[in-house]
Amino acid sequence: MDCELLFDILRGYEQYRLLSAAVQLDVFSRLREPTEADDLSDSLRRSPVLTEKFLNCLVGIGLAEKKGRAYVNTPLSETYLVPESPFSVMNLLRLIGAGEKLWDQIAKALEGRPPAENGRRNLEEVFDESFIVAMAEGAMRGGVQASIGALTRRPEFKRAQNLLDLGGGHGLYAIGFALANPALEATVFDLPAVIEVARQYVEDYELQERIKLIAGDFTKDPIGAGYDVVFASDALYRPAETLRAVLGRIRDSLVDGGLFVTKHWAMNPDRTGPLTTVLWEFRLALGAHGHYVYDNDEYIEVLKEAGFSSFELIDISTEAKPSSLVLAKNALGG
Ligand SMILES: C[S@@+](CC[C@H](N)C(=O)[O-])C[C@H]1O[C@@H](n2cnc3c(N)ncnc32)[C@H](O)[C@@H]1O
Repeated sequence: MDCELLFDILRGYEQYRLLSAAVQLDVFSRLREPTEADDLSDSLRRSPVLTEKFLNCLVGIGLAEKKGRAYVNTPLSETYLVPESPFSVMNLLRLIGAGEKLWDQIAKALEGRPPAENGRRNLEEVFDESFIVAMAEGAMRGGVQASIGALTRRPEFKRAQNLLDLGGGHGLYAIGFALANPALEATVFDLPAVIEVARQYVEDYELQERIKLIAGDFTKDPIGAGYDVVFASDALYRPAETLRAVLGRIRDSLVDGGLFVTKHWAMNPDRTGPLTTVLWEFRLALGAHGHYVYDNDEYIEVLKEAGFSSFELIDISTEAKPSSLVLAKNALGG
């Protein structure tokens, strides 16, 4: 055994800092055409010497190519790191990057004091437009495709007439379900400011006739009733007490025998994997302190307490995004 793993870890950190700086400076918008280091340093008003070395590093990590004296985007950076690209993930990277301060304070956070950063932020501050657009970029990394693929083959979905996408954010899941089932009327429920973002997505897909939008707080406002299916993706990371109450409201909103599906980060029972989830849970806890990410057994326990039955699990994990679907029936229907 040598010690190289330790230095690989360190190199990952350094590479991330390069990516983060390049996104912050919007370097990739300037490398759509071959550009020399001096021209880039002029347009960014940065040191020519450092800019050239910075660009050489970007070449080293596969985010730029060097052709003669000029630098240009690779297919990866051209596809995902240019704001105009329909596949841009820049909002998501910036959102994740905004948590850098938390990672800097691990030793302090371990003292157990409530984090100042999160102190009095209300929901509307956390879930602002850039957060929701970042969620849309994240959803398109496979979560939407995998969920729609796994669920729309099922008879409950084929015969469903009403579906609620709770905490639906951008509405892409509701849009996907509506496109897969032409008889479906979907509803997106989310906070008032977020619903305005969802409206834009729904209009882009010209689904205003079939997708209804309801603004409110799902912990206290009416979420509607008579749904055949309620779907919630990454919206229910809550302390068990709050979660139980929201699940009770979901159960009441379903028709007799209706189906609830929650999609969330997959967590192994020993809580040490998958690594992506463990890192994400730790980052969440650094900002919020507490236990909000449940493994599937824990989730099923809370669902039972809320009156659900007939549980089923579907693993829709990809390496980048380990996720589970937990399906549960409204117990009134057996
Ligand atoms: C992590 S995002 C997930 C968005 C989307 N479902 C997805 O998977 O990409 C969580 C969503 O839940 C919504 N949300 C959180 N708490 C809420 C509440 N109390 N009432 C309504 N919506 C809420 C947020 O506004 C946000 O859109």
